[in-house]
Amino acid sequence: MKTIIEPFRIKVVEPIRMTTRTEREEILRAAGYNLFLIRAEDVLIDLLTDSGTGAMSSLQWAGVMRGDESYAGARSWFVLRDTIRALTGIEHVLPTHQGRASERILFELVGGPGKVVPNNNHFDTTRANIEHTGAQAVDLVIEEGRHPTSRHPFKGNMDVARLEALIREVGPERIPLVMITVTNNSGGGQPVSLENLRAVREVCDRHKLPLFLDACRFAENAWFIKQREPGQGDRSVREIVRSMFDLADGATISAKKDGLVNIGGLLLLRDAELVRRADELLILTEGFITYGGLAGRDLEAMAQGFEEVVHEDYLQYRIRSTEYLGEKLLAAGIQIVEPPGGHAIYIDARRFCPHIPPARFPGQALVCGLYRHAGIRAVEIGSVMFGQKAPPPMELVRLAIPRRVYTQSHIDYVVEATIELYEQRASLRPLAIEWEPPSLRHFTCRFREG
Ligand code: F0G
Repeated sequence: MKTIIEPFRIKVVEPIRMTTRTEREEILRAAGYNLFLIRAEDVLIDLLTDSGTGAMSSLQWAGVMRGDESYAGARSWFVLRDTIRALTGIEHVLPTHQGRASERILFELVGGPGKVVPNNNHFDTTRANIEHTGAQAVDLVIEEGRHPTSRHPFKGNMDVARLEALIREVGPERIPLVMITVTNNSGGGQPVSLENLRAVREVCDRHKLPLFLDACRFAENAWFIKQREPGQGDRSVREIVRSMFDLADGATISAKKDGLVNIGGLLLLRDAELVRRADELLILTEGFITYGGLAGRDLEAMAQGFEEVVHEDYLQYRIRSTEYLGEKLLAAGIQIVEPPGGHAIYIDARRFCPHIPPARFPGQALVCGLYRHAGIRAVEIGSVMFGQKAPPPMELVRLAIPRRVYTQSHIDYVVEATIELYEQRASLRPLAIEWEPPSLRHFTCRFREG
């Protein structure tokens, strides 16, 4: 088979700059060994996140010029609304400035003390928004989803038996909705099958519970369904996307991922009464219902992004480029979450640095090592991010791939640098927290080494 190439050519370039190891040592020290606190200019290859970091197409930039900046009823809004309705079949489309704003509005309406919200794995902002209302966020991913080496084709699936048990235990009246994150970011960017979505829908129907998707990476999930799920290979990604949304009562979406834009979000709802209450909160905290905290140009770029993301040559390249990185690391003996996820490769930091116990943050030690060694920025998804209340099941380091930004040689550089660091892994240094805020500590906490 021939190399799957980037299905675009480059029209605008942005220089990136290498620093010296001595400079990076000082940058790390000054930032308290927290890579969220360094300047992006001091990073060579930035794999911190795939969120809002993608490159827009020429048609999206053309949309930026077309953007209608009217306060109410802008043409750009109707373009976006109609695009989303056609893609998802969900009638009510609320624009927000990003995913967590949709989460905040939704859970302010349905959350509250005593409520319990199940998910395969809650993303950190979703969990925080639920807990902020006094409700409890519960993770119910299948057992295979908790083990880096198990190769299940749909490791993001929800454990349906555990969902039933939770409903029996707390009672359906305490569960305002069931959520499923596609793909499952906190569980390794792993997909959820249509079969699993249907099974969860069936449980929800029996207990009269709404089902919501956290659909940030819906197109990547649909691509995996097309590749892996029996009977789905001949359907178009667009049809599969529609089947996913047809099973849902609503969705929260960060358009910074599969919307292929740098800012934007959506809240999708079917229930007209919920829409009325959500509109009130939207106006109160984001903006009028036809712009939701965004400029007209953002709405226009978003509409075009949601069209482009379901192009199958794009998705083939996208998923293959992530898989390529994963395969090279695995071949060098570096344990990753298998199989490779859609938007990112997750290195098993416990296996990478067995000399560092979870309490001394093996993931963060690896993140610092990658930056010190090669100017690469990754993010810890383990005890720093999730361990403030209870130890998380895995210590991972995520190498997230921005969409349409880096070429294969950038990825080859990441592979070479990571393998070199693996050969010197005994030199990675444990960390201790010097200061932390009461929640979401990974963004601002400071560490010391040693
Ligand atoms: N849900 C999931 C599954 C996410 O991955 C994110 C963001 C959000 C919700 C929140 O969206 O950032 O637009 O407010 N994930 C980014 C990441 C930040 O790096 O994984 P947002």
